[in-house]
Amino acid sequence: MTDTPGLNIDIGGIRLKNPLICGSGEHLIETTGVEAALKAGAAAVVMKSTNESEAAKVQLANAEYALLDSDWRPLDWNESPPRDAHLFCRSGLSPLAFDDWLALLKETDGVARHHNALVIASLIPADQVTGLDYARAMVAAGARVIELNIGAPHAAEAAAGAITLERDAGRVREMTERFRAAVTVPLWVKLTGQSDDVAGLVAAAREGGADAVTIMGRFMGFVPDVETQAPILGTFGAFGGAWALPLTCRWLALARRAVGPDFPLMATNGARDGLDVIRFLLAGARGVQMTTAVMTAGFGVVDQSLQTLRDYLATRGENAADLIGKAADRLASYSESPAEQDQWRGLFAEDGLSKGPSNT
Ligand SMILES: Cc1cc2nc3c(=O)[nH]c(=O)nc-3n(C[C@H](O)[C@H](O)[C@H](O)COP(=O)(O)O)c2cc1C
Repeated sequence: MTDTPGLNIDIGGIRLKNPLICGSGEHLIETTGVEAALKAGAAAVVMKSTNESEAAKVQLANAEYALLDSDWRPLDWNESPPRDAHLFCRSGLSPLAFDDWLALLKETDGVARHHNALVIASLIPADQVTGLDYARAMVAAGARVIELNIGAPHAAEAAAGAITLERDAGRVREMTERFRAAVTVPLWVKLTGQSDDVAGLVAAAREGGADAVTIMGRFMGFVPDVETQAPILGTFGAFGGAWALPLTCRWLALARRAVGPDFPLMATNGARDGLDVIRFLLAGARGVQMTTAVMTAGFGVVDQSLQTLRDYLATRGENAADLIGKAADRLASYSESPAEQDQWRGLFAEDGLSKGPSNT
């Protein structure tokens, strides 16, 4: 497929042919998945993350996944999920031995070059010291970008020492500095959403030398099953869905205010289709990572989303880069947004009670 002019985006010294990135997940563990993502038109593919911990690999073998509808009932994996499906799961890291993982990186990077795209090496370090050696080995194997995920939601539940989760700005800065000093290629840092100051963490990563920041990791949840009265999956798990988009958008906008419009932000958590990609761009993202939508509905989602983006831009005579932060920069405070007086009265029936059959 030829690249469409007007879709390209610059992220910290890297030019992407479009803003759509396939975010890391189980569908990107093997060559076939990475190649399918590249073939579908993704500008970049973040490989399934690896690290130095055996426990993190074992965790993948014990991973469980539930796709739930809006009534919390299980959906069939083999059917195309509704837009509001929730994915509740506990996942692990790539099962591949590190040498095999590096071989996969080399092989798929060759394919990516053919598609004018990138394969991104993803590391969720278990430890600050050995993790640095892994990052160096990735660069030696030809990684053109490393995404350092220090915000994986499962850290509190995974085996001790399997993965790190940094919520403190000082630690985020320090971790970023260490990895920045260890590698020569662009460093993207993926951060948690489980913080009351995600924008502060973004600022800390930038100070530590990150070239771009990806926000934000999923939240941990717990879903009781009313039939069995047991927890679905038996444990806490990471929880995601289309509902997360407004939360991610808000932190994108706040991060944009904190670090300025020139620092590259990337969105993850909530994109389900091409209009969501556009929403994330308008909120301030330069790149949009899609994971669950692709993992549950297939790689056709990439192609369809790009078509939606192309059509949207063509209709408006805009380029993808024109959209970045456009809505975020129009946000007003509550006091700056006077609406028609007493709108709340219109929410109720004439007798002042809530509307609906019980009032009739
Ligand atoms: C099953 C599953 C496995 C994941 N594995 C990884 C991983 O190995 N590394 C990583 O950085 N993120 C991983 N993620 C997080 C996703 O890349 C993404 O940030 C998250 O799912 C939110 O985006 P979404 O709404 O597009 O799914 C995983 C997500 C899911 C659902």
